[in-house]
Amino acid sequence: MSPHFLMCPPDHYGIEYEINPWMDRARQSDHTEAVRQWEALRRLLETCGATVSCMAPVAGLPDLVFTANAALIHVRTAILSRFRHPQRRGEEPHYAAWLADHGFRIVRPNAPGAFEGAGDALFCGETLFAGYRIRSDIATHQEIAGILQCRVIPLELVDPRFYHLDTCFCPLAPGKAIWYPAAFDTYGQKALRDQIGDLIPVNEDEALRFACNAVVLGDRVIANTGCPELRRQLERRGFTLYETPLDEFVKAGGSAKCLTLRLDEDE
Ligand code: ARG
Repeated sequence: MSPHFLMCPPDHYGIEYEINPWMDRARQSDHTEAVRQWEALRRLLETCGATVSCMAPVAGLPDLVFTANAALIHVRTAILSRFRHPQRRGEEPHYAAWLADHGFRIVRPNAPGAFEGAGDALFCGETLFAGYRIRSDIATHQEIAGILQCRVIPLELVDPRFYHLDTCFCPLAPGKAIWYPAAFDTYGQKALRDQIGDLIPVNEDEALRFACNAVVLGDRVIANTGCPELRRQLERRGFTLYETPLDEFVKAGGSAKCLTLRLDEDE
């Protein structure tokens, strides 16, 4: 079965508020260019053998393009997000409706606080790695571990530029991941080193090009342009890096991975 992703076209995308250090209303995105970049990402995913489903864009919800934040998906269960910032809360019912309509079991965490879906919770092998403090709260991660009956490793995020775990950590395969160490506190760095045998560090320049915000399809990795050192590291390990320009989305603090939600990972 081909890998399946949810995306949302950028019809209403723009920098309309500022909820992370990347966003600056004075630095608007170029609509035509954003559409071109988004279409190119979708085509590249399809060329790599993926199926892409699209949800309808909604006026007034510029960040709905970042479907990674819809939910955490695990074997046809969708654990819905509750956004930290009121500016994104209007997205929640749209993600919930699409996922329910497409047969997912919908779970809403009871724990108070925020949870931003696959942006902050990523499986590497059987273990769930969960970023907290900036956008998600640790209590929700503990509850999710109970719901999914899995082990969770909470990781505190300490650099506001890397506010979601998927901006500084990218699992490639069990025991193998890309990361930007300085985005974690010393405890988090140690936990990752203890848990993952092959950690590929990216330098600050490439981390700021969102090298860690990559989509992984077996041995193919899709990321923003401008990450030559990541390319070398991946090729040495038998992976191929496909670069596609995503600068219009970097202006909102997102890149390839944020623009996609994997729907079938653990089946
Ligand atoms: N502007 C969005 C926000 O700040 C970008 C979300 C990026 N998503 C991600 N999974 N990292 O919420």
